[in-house]
Amino acid sequence: MDLNGKVVLISGATGGIGEEIAKQLSKEGCKLALFARREQKLKEISTKLNNDKTKCIFQKCDVKNKDNVKETIEFTQNEFGRVDIAILTAGILAPNPIETFNSSIIMNSMEVNFLGYVYFIQYLLPIMKSQNSGTIAATSTLPDQRGVPGWGAYGASKAALSWLMDSLRAEAKQKYNINFITIKPGSVETPMIEGYYRKGAIQAEKAAKLIIKGIKKEKKIIQFPLSQVVTTRLTDLFPLFAYDNLDIEMMKGHGYPDVEEK
Ligand SMILES: NC(=O)c1ccc[n+]([C@@H]2O[C@H](COP(=O)([O-])OP(=O)(O)OC[C@H]3O[C@@H](n4cnc5c(N)ncnc54)[C@H](OP(=O)(O)O)[C@@H]3O)[C@@H](O)[C@H]2O)c1
Repeated sequence: MDLNGKVVLISGATGGIGEEIAKQLSKEGCKLALFARREQKLKEISTKLNNDKTKCIFQKCDVKNKDNVKETIEFTQNEFGRVDIAILTAGILAPNPIETFNSSIIMNSMEVNFLGYVYFIQYLLPIMKSQNSGTIAATSTLPDQRGVPGWGAYGASKAALSWLMDSLRAEAKQKYNINFITIKPGSVETPMIEGYYRKGAIQAEKAAKLIIKGIKKEKKIIQFPLSQVVTTRLTDLFPLFAYDNLDIEMMKGHGYPDVEEK
């Protein structure tokens, strides 16, 4: 796919991966529409990216708010007349220790990491159906198939997203020529994992490059880095008795908060 002139909407554009994707796409001659909650940061990024080749617009958007998401998409359509590609990256990472198990953490993760994506899909579909073309690339996570101690809220929200994307992919393509791409990053050095050292983490710049390359190739799943893909998919094959005997602290990873029982 040639990205020159394509209208690309990016959610989570103030974050490590989303911002880097925006930077790289500005060099490909795309028309960019950037969204996140921090308006000042959006303004700074967009000012830097606007150039002869690229027009960059932005608007504040909280993906937990369905009306906000609708306005965001209307804003893009009004400015550019269409939406060719939506790269959805908005997300939060919240540990949910068993010692203080609480539904509010799970609810919040589901609202941002799952429902926030559902709203985009709902309002993008009619536009892309009428265009008979489009790409929706949604960011899940590499370990989306098995639960991980301490990370159930995050994992459940991402697993739900991966499942939804898988469910829509074939029908969207066959009936409406819309590509559904699931992005499954392993560890990427961004503000999200600050304080959580992860061996083998790659730079956001590299992650954005791999994502853009995957979108151009119209891949169904974009997963990286290779070493973590191999480890994760091998671990997915462990029988339960072996999986449940893995070291819990190792599974939670470096930087997981120490929590006292309440
Ligand atoms: N970094 C990793 O190792 C890693 C691994 C696997 C998957 N991922 C996924 O990759 C995606 C990007 O992550 P990242 O590492 O770039 O994280 P990040 O640096 O923390 O950026 C997160 C982005 O999401 C936006 N966001 C958060 N809550 C939002 C809300 N309610 N409404 C709108 N925007 C919201 C943030 O912007 P505002 O604060 O301005 O709203 C920010 O732009 C996420 O979905 C994450 O789960 C990351």
